[in-house]
Amino acid sequence: MGGKLNLGINIDHVATLRQARGTIYPEPLEAARLCAVAGADSITIHLREDRRHIQDADVYTLSKKCPLPINLEMANVGEIVEIALEVKPAEVCLVPEKRRELTTEGGLDVIGNFQTLEKTVQRLKDNGSIVSLFVEPDKKALEACAQTGAQVIELHTGSFCDATDPEKAEALLKKLIAGAECAHGLGLQVNAGHGIHLGNLPDILTIPHLDTLNIGHSIIARAVFQGLENAVSEMLTAINQA
Ligand code: PXP
Repeated sequence: MGGKLNLGINIDHVATLRQARGTIYPEPLEAARLCAVAGADSITIHLREDRRHIQDADVYTLSKKCPLPINLEMANVGEIVEIALEVKPAEVCLVPEKRRELTTEGGLDVIGNFQTLEKTVQRLKDNGSIVSLFVEPDKKALEACAQTGAQVIELHTGSFCDATDPEKAEALLKKLIAGAECAHGLGLQVNAGHGIHLGNLPDILTIPHLDTLNIGHSIIARAVFQGLENAVSEMLTAINQA
């Protein structure tokens, strides 16, 4: 990366609001368009196996009409991999998925699932997508990421962002910093995401080599009070001022 930190907006929770009532609004595509107007760099959507927010139709519509590159988050499961192969998103981020989790808990077990991950990474890359792996900042896991052929890792910032004990938070931030150094040294692009909001952003920005921050919940939550364009602009301003 050449200095500019990119902002990807995860718009899953626009779909959450729609699914809560089974309506046809609010539309994720409209959200993506507003994010583009506000200056965001990419749009993230997570097609979960349980389809709790983003639906297959959203993936197809956004892949045709979204004004920004799409980062499709997904588990490494056959049915979803086939959809990714069909729509060819600019980027695919492979994440672990548990049915009953509130959101993505923990990073991928890249070492334990190395062979199946390597195969999927290769198929998606051969199909033209950039592949990212969502991982904890662990040296061995990061080395395994590089060995799969993935070009990007997304550091799971959730544990740090959720930590309430300052000492624990400091230790977790140090791990993220070391993880970013390690991944960069392995030639991987470093993204980060999960739990990031305006309050913890200054600490997140001390992580070196960041290319892209993927932020969802906090921006959609701010958008309820001040509109999506303003919420995205506010985050961009905070990033650029740092
Ligand atoms: N990155 C990944 C890989 C995620 O799974 C999520 C949550 O869907 C995010 C980023 C965004 O996290 P948040 O909604 O907490 O900003």
